[in-house]
Amino acid sequence: MAKILINGGQTLDGEIWISGAKNAVLPILFASILGTKISRISNVPHLQDVTTSVELMAQMGAGISIDERLRIEINPSLLNRHEAPYDLVKTMRASILVLGPLLARHGRATVSLPGGCAIGSRPVNLHIHGLELMGADIQVKNGNIEATAKRLKGARILMDLVSVTGTENLMMAATLAAGTTVIENAAREPEIEDLANYLIAMGAKISGAGTHTIIIEGVDELGGADYEVLPDRIEAGTYLVAGAITGGRVKITRARPNTMDAILDKLAEAGAKITCGDDWIELDMQGRRPKAVNLTTAPYPAFPTDMQAQFTALNCIAEGTGVITETVFENRFMHVQELQRLGADIQLEGNTAIIRGVEKLTAAPLMATDLRASACLVLAALVAKGETSVDRVYHIDRGYEIIEEKLSQLGAKIKRIQIA
Ligand code: UD1
Repeated sequence: MAKILINGGQTLDGEIWISGAKNAVLPILFASILGTKISRISNVPHLQDVTTSVELMAQMGAGISIDERLRIEINPSLLNRHEAPYDLVKTMRASILVLGPLLARHGRATVSLPGGCAIGSRPVNLHIHGLELMGADIQVKNGNIEATAKRLKGARILMDLVSVTGTENLMMAATLAAGTTVIENAAREPEIEDLANYLIAMGAKISGAGTHTIIIEGVDELGGADYEVLPDRIEAGTYLVAGAITGGRVKITRARPNTMDAILDKLAEAGAKITCGDDWIELDMQGRRPKAVNLTTAPYPAFPTDMQAQFTALNCIAEGTGVITETVFENRFMHVQELQRLGADIQLEGNTAIIRGVEKLTAAPLMATDLRASACLVLAALVAKGETSVDRVYHIDRGYEIIEEKLSQLGAKIKRIQIA
């Protein structure tokens, strides 16, 4: 077990690069199962969720090798087991992304039903319903989703709710179905477009990814592809908030500013001077305290739920009162109680947090509850007077590569210690 210790009070100033996107690399890795040939994926972030995905595919018999630059080579031709067991699925809900590819390519899949998690119940009914419309026979038994299909067939699928992994699962399954699939009310996240581009490179016929309607014309076989994963907009946003919260200047490179409009708009509203190139962003607070911002989370291109906790932290020390409304997950304010331990003034009313900015926070021992909540605690600790410890950092390691090294490079006083 490890803890992160942060001595708050440093004004961040410097430049760092952004890693490949967690939410793009996971579906891309699982999509490689759809092919008959080897795929090579680059710009892979060194994250626990990537390790879990690789472990899962290796357990199923796929040939996997990883080079020193973390390029992952996947040989799907050896895959001979079709099961995602509970011990892996419970650590990473995105394991549900094997369901569509396994069913489409091998005609069967047994995937443990993901349970609830800290941020809400997170059902997978949309994944199951869409696959049934494509002709799959699905039973939920003994905590498992057991799915079989001879060959999936194209279908028109209207998704009741906008679901990111739901859209991805169905888009992947449809690539090998007989006929055309139309997914309506599809999620539009940039990671969906990235997955579609990878599938197209493998030989799939997909149009409309990144819009509400995705059309997939099924093909008989997919090959492999060499593909570079897009940069992580949530990691990028988190480091920009680190700059803003400390009144500092942060330049991020290897980023994709055109996927970050809602985040950059809110940072500008908080008083940051933002300058962008094609693949870099510089944020400069010029020593000022941020101004509180109001925001509501919603599917892309609106403000992402995965950045909600970080902006809650920003509002804690901002000038004025900020109101944050969470509409995507029902229980995503677990960080509020921890922020209060640092002296934040936050009132929770249902899915809304009213945050009255205070001039200073003070250090306390904190406990991470989920991935983005843990990032928000680190951000708040950067401005809290004294030494804050953040426990259960395995949550951070699921989604942030070498966070303490990157923040140190920006001038933060942060270190990781091993505890018994
Ligand atoms: C993905 C992201 C996660 C992000 C979330 C919302 C990955 C690996 N994870 O998660 O980081 O926070 O999108 O942007 O990409 N829902 C149902 N039934 C379903 C599926 C979803 O009711 O079958 C509900 C969920 O409970 C939630 C909402 O739909 O309230 C959106 O969830 P969804 O977009 O599916 O989230 P994930 O794909 O799990």
